[in-house]
Amino acid sequence: MKDRPHLTLPPQNPRDTSPPSVSYLSRVQESVNALKAWRGALPVPEMVVVLGSGLADAVDGLDNLACARFEDIPGFRTTHVLGHRSELRVGRVECVLPDGRTGSREVAFLRGRNHAYEGFDAGEVVHNVRTLLHWGAKGVLLTNAAGCLDISWPVGSLMVLSDHINFTGLNPLAYPYGAGFEPRFVDMGRCYDAEWRSDLKAMARAQGLTMNEGTYFGVLGPTYETPAEIRMMQTLGAHAVGMSTVLEAIAARQLGARVAAVSCFTNHGAGLSPEAVLDHADVLDVGKASARGLAKLLLAAAVSLPL
Ligand code: HPA
Repeated sequence: MKDRPHLTLPPQNPRDTSPPSVSYLSRVQESVNALKAWRGALPVPEMVVVLGSGLADAVDGLDNLACARFEDIPGFRTTHVLGHRSELRVGRVECVLPDGRTGSREVAFLRGRNHAYEGFDAGEVVHNVRTLLHWGAKGVLLTNAAGCLDISWPVGSLMVLSDHINFTGLNPLAYPYGAGFEPRFVDMGRCYDAEWRSDLKAMARAQGLTMNEGTYFGVLGPTYETPAEIRMMQTLGAHAVGMSTVLEAIAARQLGARVAAVSCFTNHGAGLSPEAVLDHADVLDVGKASARGLAKLLLAAAVSLPL
């Protein structure tokens, strides 16, 4: 990818209702055009996989796929969070499925993501996923590191999201982040695809992985929660808490994509294990340790989940 200067949007002032000088939609179109120019006649990725904290280096074969650094894609922004790279990997992925068949598909891996707590606005957080869907992808598989709210589920285990509570205070479909994207009012009753969830659970079982299922509580961060906040989340019926995923899931559903998300539990929520002190380095270490199993599952899911 050739080096190109980034588009910069004016700072968002909630009291300023004038249209932004560069729309989020036109920025997505600019990114899509750049990716089309980069890949030329090569096939468009059908599936998007977003690799969360600790997962970026766990997926086998990623380094053999074509690479574009976020900083080299017009409209993309670079994340500076430790444990996240900032690159897009694209290409044909082939892998042996748990049932012995071989699956193969064009996949785009986002190795790292932008978080709202870094100062990215809701439109920037979802920009990369929106771009890949506008380019032609039909499905999005999201992953994240999360705090576990159920003390009977071990650290290192996985959870497929059945639902979420968006507590970030943000929404990528609200003006100006959603201007030009249709439809405006999106049904969130079936955000996480039921067939994909059941396929993911079956694949995890076949691989000997424990896959729980539950509701993800999405927060802005970057602080971890207080014990009182964790009790509130439990009372509200959540099973996991994390600082990503919900905005990307909303943006992907608006564009009609099938969506699934898997949390990798790196710790129990604050106050649930009294001796534990929450620390980002530990979150990354635990993430890495359980990442290998999840990485294998992700490859199988990426090539076989129905689109
Ligand atoms: N809270 C919020 N986000 C997280 C946590 C947590 O406990 N662990 C990993 N990401």
